[in-house]
Amino acid sequence: MKKIIVIFSVVCIFATSAWAQRGGHNRRNNRQNIVDLATPKPLPIPPVLEGIQNGNTKTFNMEARHTSHDFLGTGQKTDMLGYNGASYLGPTMRVKRGDRMIMNVKNSLQGVPTTLHRHGAALDAKDDGNQNQSIPAGGTWKSDIIVKQEAATLWYHPHAHGQTAEQAYMGLAGFFIIDDDNPLTKSLPSTYGVDDIPVVFQGKDITEDGQVSFRLRGMAGLVGRTLVVNGAVNTYFDTKSKLLRLRLLNGANSGVYTILFGDIPAKLIAGDLGYHQTPIDARQVTLASGERAEVVLDLSKFQGQEITILAHESIRDTTHELVKLKINDITDLKTSVPTQLVEPRKALAISDDAPRRFFSLRSTMHDFYINDEQYEHGTINFRVTKPEEVEVWTFKNTDERYPHPMHLHGTEFYVLSVNGRPAPKEIRNVPKDTVLVNPQDVVEIAVVYKGSGAFPYHCHILEHEEQGMMGMMEVAPAE
Ligand code: C2O
Ligand code: CU
Ligand code: CU
Repeated sequence: MKKIIVIFSVVCIFATSAWAQRGGHNRRNNRQNIVDLATPKPLPIPPVLEGIQNGNTKTFNMEARHTSHDFLGTGQKTDMLGYNGASYLGPTMRVKRGDRMIMNVKNSLQGVPTTLHRHGAALDAKDDGNQNQSIPAGGTWKSDIIVKQEAATLWYHPHAHGQTAEQAYMGLAGFFIIDDDNPLTKSLPSTYGVDDIPVVFQGKDITEDGQVSFRLRGMAGLVGRTLVVNGAVNTYFDTKSKLLRLRLLNGANSGVYTILFGDIPAKLIAGDLGYHQTPIDARQVTLASGERAEVVLDLSKFQGQEITILAHESIRDTTHELVKLKINDITDLKTSVPTQLVEPRKALAISDDAPRRFFSLRSTMHDFYINDEQYEHGTINFRVTKPEEVEVWTFKNTDERYPHPMHLHGTEFYVLSVNGRPAPKEIRNVPKDTVLVNPQDVVEIAVVYKGSGAFPYHCHILEHEEQGMMGMMEVAPAE
């Protein structure tokens, strides 16, 4: 690991000086200019891929490719990556609980491995698409699972060893939506792209001529100075709906974003892996890299207005525009938010002698550690021999400055406490796969294992993960 880190820092210095020579200094304070340079455009909506259906089996053919993409809408393209012919990001894969989902992933990238990881999916490690299921350039990987989990907004991105941060930053990511037959949620807005909108936001460094490249710089990870939403900058969304549902995904390599709803009445209805039991009135929602939330906005009082939804990023302390809502005459009144969204989930059986695990999170100048260890390819950090037992994990972030959103594969978890107090209601009693651990904070979670095999757990600031903040656990098959 040491060797790789040394190379990283050399690249860093080189990139920084090349940047300065190209007049980067003037470009540094021009976040707003980049947005102003962009042509306003309708919020792009990724197409839905339902897969090739044969009874309950849906087959998805995915292909990672080199592309070129115009972020600013000025005709200036930059080399990026995308799935299935999209110039950036990929289609929204959509399945239903109970479906059999077959996925063929083709790596058409030149000279580099990739994987496709369904972030949040309950499956065995062989189907996880983590660094152990690497697809060489030119190769294809097949996964075959039964979708067992409840309705939720998941997403997918690559996870190949040493490639995750760069490939995700360059465009390989997409939504993965799971539906189910829960009758309580039938009245919610659910017309994709009309009143049910996927919104992935990602900080990006874009030059005045529309160019993007991947450079590791600094300890905070790639926060980026410009907010890209569904692949575009400076977007608006036209609506006639009284209720607008947003499926918010922080798909940024780094950054903690608080989405501000201003005067618009908003109800938080879902977290990472499912619905809240009852809707929660929310004025804002905070999402770290990898986290999702679903909210329903009530636009009835805003006919004829344009309202900009803002996003405040806390590592760099900057405010961005997420999207401008253009609220027309409201003609669509059919939908409603029920008072109860799911039947109460059965209480977790956490015994007094539940297995407990402790994880300290810290960084030094260039390195990131979990329990003073860095990720080593091929190492298993611990083994879970009784996956049927709910475990209690504690994360303690000893850093002064850097948040660490911790993500577990192959599990779902519930946040029990933050700094000894019950978890805030926005993240309480809702299944999750990623939790923000702020500087100096202690976060306790109850972990439920969902699959067997070797799974990663890591910080979802992808640069931290690449610089060591990841471990592997091996989960035995359930009894
Ligand atoms: Cu979003 Cu290890 O993944
Ligand atoms: Cu994941
Ligand atoms: Cu981190």
